[in-house]
Amino acid sequence: MKIPPFSIEQFFALYEFNTPYILCVSDCESMSVGEILEMSGSSMDAFADLRLGYTESQGGVEMRTAVADLYPDITPEHVVSLAAPEEGIYLAMRALLDPDDHVVVLTPAYDSLLNLAETISGNVTRWEIQPIDGKWEIDLAQLEAMVTSQTKLIIVNFPHNPTGFLPALAEFDKILDIAAENGSWLFCDEMYRGLEREEAVRLPSAAGRYGRSIILFGLSKAHGLPGLRSGWLIIEDETLREEVMNWKYYTSICPPAPSEFLATAVLHHHHKFVQRNRAIIRQNLIIADAFFARWPSLFTWRPPQAGSVALVELHKPSATRYCHQLVADAGVLLLPSSCLGYGDSHIRMGFGRENFEQNLGQYERYLSKRASGT
Ligand SMILES: Cc1ncc(COP(=O)(O)O)c(C=O)c1O
Repeated sequence: MKIPPFSIEQFFALYEFNTPYILCVSDCESMSVGEILEMSGSSMDAFADLRLGYTESQGGVEMRTAVADLYPDITPEHVVSLAAPEEGIYLAMRALLDPDDHVVVLTPAYDSLLNLAETISGNVTRWEIQPIDGKWEIDLAQLEAMVTSQTKLIIVNFPHNPTGFLPALAEFDKILDIAAENGSWLFCDEMYRGLEREEAVRLPSAAGRYGRSIILFGLSKAHGLPGLRSGWLIIEDETLREEVMNWKYYTSICPPAPSEFLATAVLHHHHKFVQRNRAIIRQNLIIADAFFARWPSLFTWRPPQAGSVALVELHKPSATRYCHQLVADAGVLLLPSSCLGYGDSHIRMGFGRENFEQNLGQYERYLSKRASGT
């Protein structure tokens, strides 16, 4: 079976580890193992004593309990611990979808959310976010018209990568209603939850609110720990959960022991880790607001409401050519929207890193030089 190229990861494979001024990644500021242990009050001795046998396939009870505590009405048995958040997308699509099943996907989307559904079912309708008056919007009437009793699955991602869009609570409720009225499953990718610019707009998780939902979360984004490769699905439906587990026996079998140890330590202090990165993003967005105000002829800026990234309109003929040239000329990395299946006139920018101001400074010096013709 062939699957389309994973465009984002292929682009990062070219540049992420050899370009000095990274301005487009979605993960947040990371930390060392020592810092994790210190911040969570865990001991290095306990970590050193960890034995590297197989772990419990669904995830250890302590980890699943710590996860369940993050959600009202969720118990440890609803939690499926993963060997990486990405694995959760694969397992859910495999367990849920057959050829010809109708799927509605919010786009633009992280490659696997769209490409796995499209490859397995071959029957995807794209529900596209719209740029309107300096922000992004969803059209719920459009969703209502797309979803029928034949729709097996609706896939959404809030806070949204790449636009930073977050629906209002009434809009989110309407999406749950549309799924319920049609008996559709709802895959809710909540990877960026906790990174809202204003805490007041934070949505409740879909977990515990709709029985046919599958929720994805993990420690890569809000906690800044993508190297842990730790995440989980929340699945209340027992039959689906068992099918997901069966697929898991064909992929990772169980979570890696060191990651599970550290993830559990982090989860006991979840808020401390997330607040740290939320504060970094809020500060960087103030810097970004000022930057885009200085360059209105080059960009249209739609500030993100939540998450760690934004999709910025670039007033150039090809964002792809622009981004490749920018790496060569200035060592600055931006992600073109062609890698997100969204035309070629936007770039993605990321705000989760502590060196954002310094890297943006390098980009602005390059822009200023070009503007003055030097
Ligand atoms: C929306 C979304 N879902 C899932 C993932 C996968 O997360 P991970 O790379 O930690 O497996 C990503 C990664 O960028 C993402 O942006």
